[in-house]
Amino acid sequence: MTDDVAPDLVEGDRVTVTVGAVAHGGHCVARIGGDHGWVVFVRHALPGERVTVEITERHRGHLRGDAVEIHSPSADRVTPPCRYAHPGGCGGCDLQHVAPRAQREWKAAVVREQLTRLARLTEDEVEALGVRVEELPGGSLGWRTRVRYAVDAAGRAGLLQHRSHQVVPVDRCLIAHPRVQSLDLLARSWPTESAIEVVTSADGEVSVSTRDAGGDAGDDARDAPGPRGVVRHGPAQVRESAAGREWHLPTEAFWQVHPSAPDVLCEVVLDMLRPAQGESVWDLYGGAGLFAAAVAGRTGGRAVVVESAPAGVAAARNNLADLRGLEVVAATVQAALTRRRLTGPVDLVVLDPPRSGAGATVVRTIARAGPRAVAYVACDPAALARDIATFRAAGFRLAALRAFDCFPMTQHVECVALLTPDGTDPTR
Ligand SMILES: C[S@@+](CC[C@H](N)C(=O)[O-])C[C@H]1O[C@@H](n2cnc3c(N)ncnc32)[C@H](O)[C@@H]1O
Repeated sequence: MTDDVAPDLVEGDRVTVTVGAVAHGGHCVARIGGDHGWVVFVRHALPGERVTVEITERHRGHLRGDAVEIHSPSADRVTPPCRYAHPGGCGGCDLQHVAPRAQREWKAAVVREQLTRLARLTEDEVEALGVRVEELPGGSLGWRTRVRYAVDAAGRAGLLQHRSHQVVPVDRCLIAHPRVQSLDLLARSWPTESAIEVVTSADGEVSVSTRDAGGDAGDDARDAPGPRGVVRHGPAQVRESAAGREWHLPTEAFWQVHPSAPDVLCEVVLDMLRPAQGESVWDLYGGAGLFAAAVAGRTGGRAVVVESAPAGVAAARNNLADLRGLEVVAATVQAALTRRRLTGPVDLVVLDPPRSGAGATVVRTIARAGPRAVAYVACDPAALARDIATFRAAGFRLAALRAFDCFPMTQHVECVALLTPDGTDPTR
């Protein structure tokens, strides 16, 4: 097939295309039928390549597909280090076929595109931010300290296919931390389990939890029971160190997955906010209170962590009990702000929402609280860009943005954005 045929394509059909720009979601864009033709989101490809695409999904107005034959490879193409990273294989990594430096350029292009399209910054404004994606120490493999394996009907553990609940049995996940890879979990049979979760800490501990397929832990629950149907083998808490302190964290509490991320992100947040003695801070979507600890360590002032997950709330209360002037609010950020459990004015805000972002109501309420500066830590550049648009409409400007490759081999990127009220000097 050539690229000038009408797109009466269905799943399994093949078409040859020239691949265009990268897009948010771990794929590139190609068009069938010229500039105004159908869009195909192509995985396993690189911009500029001529590839044969096998269609995997047809939707109203666009198609999805995998590059299954590469006719003119990009100079940035490499052989994936992982043998499960291929069309129809494991969906955990999107960019194993891309050289590490080019992965970071790919992600920077996605961030720039989201800022122009969704935050509605001009090309010049985006250019002035100098967006690039910075490498973390440790290389592209062996960084993932928290891994969730799924178990198939035959009791084999593995990872999920892209956009599917289909389990791909694997004998090794190369992005998992070496301590996770050294466990024999993937060689074993799991006849009654539906998932296996592994946590390893910077301190070297390893904890494994298994989730029972029937939701019942059974008789062999050895250690402290976790949530219903979960059996933990190993410590209930792990030790981490970050922001100049030691943390004791329940294994189910959120913690940054890349071992270098907690300290790198804290340094950037401090560098952007420049906290002054006595200033107050809100750490929203605070988890164990990582950023509150970093900022309150500088200000000595009032700090509030808002976190909705019980394990995060407990971790923040236990780990930050020494910080006088710190309060942990167990609530959703929306409820804390709109039901006035948290009222301004406030000097500094850090927010680190899940992938869906904070949303317009939360952003407008933060803006009304009159902070001098906001550090927005974001794991999804599209949600970040939408929230930046709301901040801009509420009288804030995007003063700086840095991006980090906290998730090498995957499409994911972590950004930290500094937002300041219009007309103020962010360097003060
Ligand atoms: C990306 S994590 C960030 C945690 C922390 N800032 C850190 O870096 O360790 C997001 C946190 O927000 C919490 N969360 C999710 N939705 C929330 C909501 N609506 N309100 C409050 N917390 C929420 C999650 O439980 C999680 O701990």
